[in-house]
Amino acid sequence: MDNLTVIVLAAGGGTRMKSKTMKVLHPIAGRSMIGHVLNAVAAVEPTRVVAVVGHQRDQVGPHIIDLMPNAVLAVQETQDGTGHAVRIAMEASGTTTGTVIVAAGDTPLLEGESLRAFAAEHEAAQRAVSILSGRVPNPFGYGRIVRNHEGDVEAIVEEKDASPLQREIDEINSGILAFDAEFLVSALPRISNDNAKGEYYLTDAVGIAREDGLTVGAHLIEDVAQTEGANDRAQLADLGRELNRRIVTRWMKDGVTVMDPATTWIEADVVLEPDVVILPGTQLLGATVVREDAVVGPDTTLKDCEIGAGARVVRTHGELAVVGDQANVGPFAYLRPGTQLGIAGKIGTFVETKNAQIGDGAKVPHLSYVGDAEIGEGTNIGAGTIFANYDGVAKHRTVIGRHARTGSNNTFVAPVSLGDGAGTAGGTTVRRNVPAGALAVSASAQRNLEGWSESKRPGTAQAEAARTAREQQEKTAE
Ligand code: UD1
Ligand code: CA
Repeated sequence: MDNLTVIVLAAGGGTRMKSKTMKVLHPIAGRSMIGHVLNAVAAVEPTRVVAVVGHQRDQVGPHIIDLMPNAVLAVQETQDGTGHAVRIAMEASGTTTGTVIVAAGDTPLLEGESLRAFAAEHEAAQRAVSILSGRVPNPFGYGRIVRNHEGDVEAIVEEKDASPLQREIDEINSGILAFDAEFLVSALPRISNDNAKGEYYLTDAVGIAREDGLTVGAHLIEDVAQTEGANDRAQLADLGRELNRRIVTRWMKDGVTVMDPATTWIEADVVLEPDVVILPGTQLLGATVVREDAVVGPDTTLKDCEIGAGARVVRTHGELAVVGDQANVGPFAYLRPGTQLGIAGKIGTFVETKNAQIGDGAKVPHLSYVGDAEIGEGTNIGAGTIFANYDGVAKHRTVIGRHARTGSNNTFVAPVSLGDGAGTAGGTTVRRNVPAGALAVSASAQRNLEGWSESKRPGTAQAEAARTAREQQEKTAE
C-alpha cells in the first residue's frame, strides 16, 4: 500500500470507565488499549498515522507519540462526532489522495493482518467506501448496515436514528472504515449533524457515496472480537480474558505446555521458547523471556524477568531478575530488580534478593535476605543469612568470593568482603573483611549454667523436664 493514511480516533471521554485514567490508556495484556491498536496499525506499514485526541489529551497525546513518534496528533476540542473528528484529522495531515482507514483507539484485540486484508480488499475493489462489518448476537448500540434488494450497502443507520425494522439488522459497522481519500475530502463537508445525537456521523459518508453513484461495500470480519471496544471495566475484563486466551493459545501452538490456560496470564510482549512448561496460577508480565525447557509455576508472577533454559521457578514473585540456565528458584522466593542468578545456581525458600549477582552454582537455599551483594561461583550461603546493606542512611555492598562456605544465621554488615574459599562459623556477624581461605568466628564462647532450669524455674514444665532428664541420667550412671 503506497499511500495509506490511518486515522485512529481517541478523543472521546470514556466516562463509563469512571476513571481518572483516560479509557484508551487502560492496560490490557501489558499494553494500553490504544497501544494494541497502534501495534496493529504499525504492522500495515501505513504512510502516515493521525491520532485524534481531545479528552485528557495531555495524557493521551504523549503516550501515542511515545509509542509511535511519527504519528500526527490532531486535536478535537469538542467531541462533535466521528465525522467531525475525521475532518480534523484530514486537515491536520493534509491528506488528499490514497486510501484512508479510520479505526477507534479502544479495540485492543485488533490484529494487523485483519487491517491489511481489509485495506487490500478495499483498494482491489476500487470503492469509495468500505465498511469492516460484523455479525453480532446483540447489535444494540451499533450502526446497522442497511442493504438494498440486490444486497448492496445503501447506508449505515445509527441506533438512535434506526427504525424498529432496521434495529432488527444484525450486521453492524465495526467502526473500522476505509475510504478513497479524494471522496472522503469531498464528503466530509457534506455531512450534517441533523440527527438524533446532533453529531456529525462519519457513517453518513456511506449514503453520500451512494448518492454520488460511487461504490460502497462491506467486508464481513469473521472474528468480531477484534473490533470490540471496552466501554466500562467489566467489558475491559472480558476483553482481557479473551486476549489472554488468544495469547496463551498461540504459545501452546508454538510448543509451550500450559497446564491450566484459565489461570495462566501471559502479556503481549512476553517471549517463550518451545518446551517451556507453565504450571497453574502463573502470570508472565512485561518483557519476560523464558528459555526452552524451563518450568515456571505454580503460583508465580514474573515481570520483566529472563529465565534460563531448563531452570525451575516455583511459587516465586520476580521483577527485573535474570535466572541462569538450569538454576532453581523457590518455593517462596522474592526476586527484586537487579537479581542475577548464575547457571545451576539456587535461590531457595523464603529468600529475598535485590541487586545481587549470584554466581554459577552458588546457592542461597533458605530464609535469607541478599541485598546489594556479589556471591562468587560455587559458594554456599548458610540458612538464615542477612546481608545488612543499609546503615540507615546509605546502601553498601557485600562481596563474597568463590567456593566460600558461610555458616547459618550470619549477618554481613556491608561494606564487607569474604575472600575466595573462606568460611564463617554459625551465628557470625561479619563486620570486617575476611581474607581468602580464613574462617571468621565472631560469636562469643558459649557457657552452660548447669542445673539452671531446676533452680531458677521451679514448678514449671521446663524444670520438670529437666528433672526427669537428670534422674534418667543418674539412673543410667548407676
Ligand atoms: C460508532 C459508529 C457506529 C459503530 C460503532 C462501533 C459513528 C457515527 N458511529 O458509534 O456506526 O457501530 O462506532 O463501535 O461513527 N470519537 C472521537 N471524536 C468524536 C466522537 C467519537 O474521537 O467526536 C471517537 C471515540 O473516542 C471512539 C470512536 O470515535 O473511539 C467511536 O465513537 P463513539 O462515540 O464510541 O461512537 P459510537 O456511538 O459507538
Ligand atoms: Ca463506541
